[in-house]
Amino acid sequence: EPEVIRDKAAMRAWSRRQRAEGKTVVLVPTMGFLHEGHLSLVSAAAAVPGPVAVVVSIYVNPSQFAPSEDLATYPSDLAGDLRKLASTGAVHAVFNPPDLYYRGAAVSGRPAEAPGGAAASSCLEAGGDGHETWIRVERLEKGLCGASRPVFFRGVATVVAKLFNVVEPDVAMFGKKDYQQWRLICRMVRDLDFAVEILGSEIVREADGLAMSSRNVRLSPEEREKALSISRSLVNARTAALNNSNSASEHIKDQIVQTLTEAGGRVDYVEIVEQESLVPVEMIDRPVVICVAAWFGKVRLIDNIEIHMQ
Ligand code: PAJ
Repeated sequence: EPEVIRDKAAMRAWSRRQRAEGKTVVLVPTMGFLHEGHLSLVSAAAAVPGPVAVVVSIYVNPSQFAPSEDLATYPSDLAGDLRKLASTGAVHAVFNPPDLYYRGAAVSGRPAEAPGGAAASSCLEAGGDGHETWIRVERLEKGLCGASRPVFFRGVATVVAKLFNVVEPDVAMFGKKDYQQWRLICRMVRDLDFAVEILGSEIVREADGLAMSSRNVRLSPEEREKALSISRSLVNARTAALNNSNSASEHIKDQIVQTLTEAGGRVDYVEIVEQESLVPVEMIDRPVVICVAAWFGKVRLIDNIEIHMQ
């Protein structure tokens, strides 16, 4: 049974104790409603060489949701999550803070802690009394998901920085499912000299190819069937690119858009970008990743596929 820690100071003390005992502290940040994708990060965390202390954080971060987004209805099941984590046998602590932010005006230079359970129903506004410091990874936050979700990566970078400061992990695991998020965190850690190593873990899919996501439960059976066009179009695009040297990105993107649209999806974006910089490429002549976001019904799904041209 992993120990459940709710308090920031207790979390930091736990981590420091583990490190004093010679353990490598590995953090797996999540927003809960855990599935096999999250659990694969736990396995990867447990597989870090040497003695490890694995911490999974479960915290639905209000600041990465815009007011129009699904914070209020984001699925949760803490009891189920704790059961799943216990059954891995690989998790030593679960960090589940009632709130990570300071709310209300600072008193005599020391911000007041929220009484707990105070998850906002909209994003935290910059310039408010409680929290006004934000991390922006200026270029990487703008493209792909950043175009339709302008406050998203500001919220992600900031909460991950807060988690790193509270947990002080040696290693942190991120999934390549959220490709831009992973690259952005790598960049933040490099630019700000965080003493943490970031590892990226492969996408876990359902047997039929759908990338696992906490939001998949919101798809109707029909929408779920249609959403298979995402992974199908990505695999076909990869095959096409590998069969031709120097495919034009425009052509490959058009085919993906067509497949998604014919399936009844509403495309947010399809982009072919360099793997580390996420700069769009004209031609698939170097290691790239094809990134997709599309709506099926009321659910926005993302997926991607890496292509390494030989
Ligand atoms: P969440 O969506 O819960 O995802 C937590 C971690 O699990 C992320 O690193 C994500 O990339 C990974 N993950 C989700 N589905 C996956 C899949 N099918 N295969 C592999 N990995 C998968 O991402 C977040 O939470 C938040 O933005 C967070 C980083 C916790 C900051 O609030």
